[in-house]
Amino acid sequence: MKTVRDLDIAGKRVLIRVDFNVPLDEEGRITDDNRIRTALPTLEYALQQGARVILCSHLGRPEGERVAGYSLAPIADHLAGLLGRPVKMAPDCVGPDVESIVGAMRDGDVVLLENLRYHAEEKKNDPDFAKRLAGLAEVFINDAFAVSHRAHASVVAVPEQFAAKAAGFLLQKELDYFHRCLDEPVRPLAAIVGGAKVSSKLGALENMLAKVDRLLIGGAMANTFLKSQGLEVGVSKVENDLVAAAEQLLHRARKKGVQVYLPVDVIAADRFSPDAVSKQVTVQNIPAGWMALDIGPATVIVFSEVLADAGTIIWNGPMGAFEMDAFARGTMAMTHVVASAHALSITGGGDSNAAVKKFGEADNISYMSTGGGAFLMLMEGKTLPGVQALDGV
Ligand code: 3PG
Repeated sequence: MKTVRDLDIAGKRVLIRVDFNVPLDEEGRITDDNRIRTALPTLEYALQQGARVILCSHLGRPEGERVAGYSLAPIADHLAGLLGRPVKMAPDCVGPDVESIVGAMRDGDVVLLENLRYHAEEKKNDPDFAKRLAGLAEVFINDAFAVSHRAHASVVAVPEQFAAKAAGFLLQKELDYFHRCLDEPVRPLAAIVGGAKVSSKLGALENMLAKVDRLLIGGAMANTFLKSQGLEVGVSKVENDLVAAAEQLLHRARKKGVQVYLPVDVIAADRFSPDAVSKQVTVQNIPAGWMALDIGPATVIVFSEVLADAGTIIWNGPMGAFEMDAFARGTMAMTHVVASAHALSITGGGDSNAAVKKFGEADNISYMSTGGGAFLMLMEGKTLPGVQALDGV
């Protein structure tokens, strides 16, 4: 794929789509700037080349309204500190004021456009809005991996307006890691899939069957698989309409020779609460009226043995309700197992990454993707619309 390095950007106005959708506290302070930091290599490169850098991003979901709490202004200040140069905050992302700010830019200047989602046209992939945005620049760079699964204007319709367009270094790195893990893995390749719902992961699980040697399933979604094996799971979260699909998936896995591992024990609780009464039980003995909220210690041992000789591990979704300390041990233990494995390890999704950080292993995972939905879409084996829109260059 063409990257920013392949384009002549010196002295040019370069529109860079970044994903600065960072968490803010009530006072508008950034609580995790990872998504800003991971965009720095592209921004610094463009500035070294003498480009005029115009940044655009969404923040939150203001649904086409100018909601003050979703302004990118705090991000402009923070970015200026990281880059060590001024970042001018534009009052909007399109319109005459923005055009005159951009028109006055000099080489090495940085302008951050205001939240794209203040305009409903962004999410509608509106061609006229895209033309106005594209009119600001001569070159387009997509470095927003985490939003590249959305067919929004700044991701799809805008790049379609440019002859000179390419991927930024973050987008390239994300795709490279994913490709290394899934298409050219050091085997055995193991996938750990967890989280709340089978429904949101079914496509990913299906695609994983074609790629992996071992599939480990945890989190609340494991309940639907356990039920498909005839087990009683009390009042655990189950997607009854997907029990048959779960059974079929296990059947296909067996036919393909993919080893699937489900929990053998769980931490069962009498209610969904941090102070619920809880106990470790085998999956055959979940009491009626109780719910499974974490994988148990025996499962952690099985999973860690399964991963012991893995060459590559891909992980998406926590093993339990880890936001509650009482049900965090399974996810914590698996974080340490993955981090200490002699394998190329890649994690993706907000919850898995939050767990890796919470349990202090961020430095010991080979690569933590910045994507949630985008990462899942790659796991489903699909091409990201934002990547597709750069093709044919
Ligand atoms: C994310 O946080 O996953 C991306 O920034 C996309 O945000 P969205 O889910 O609001 O489109």
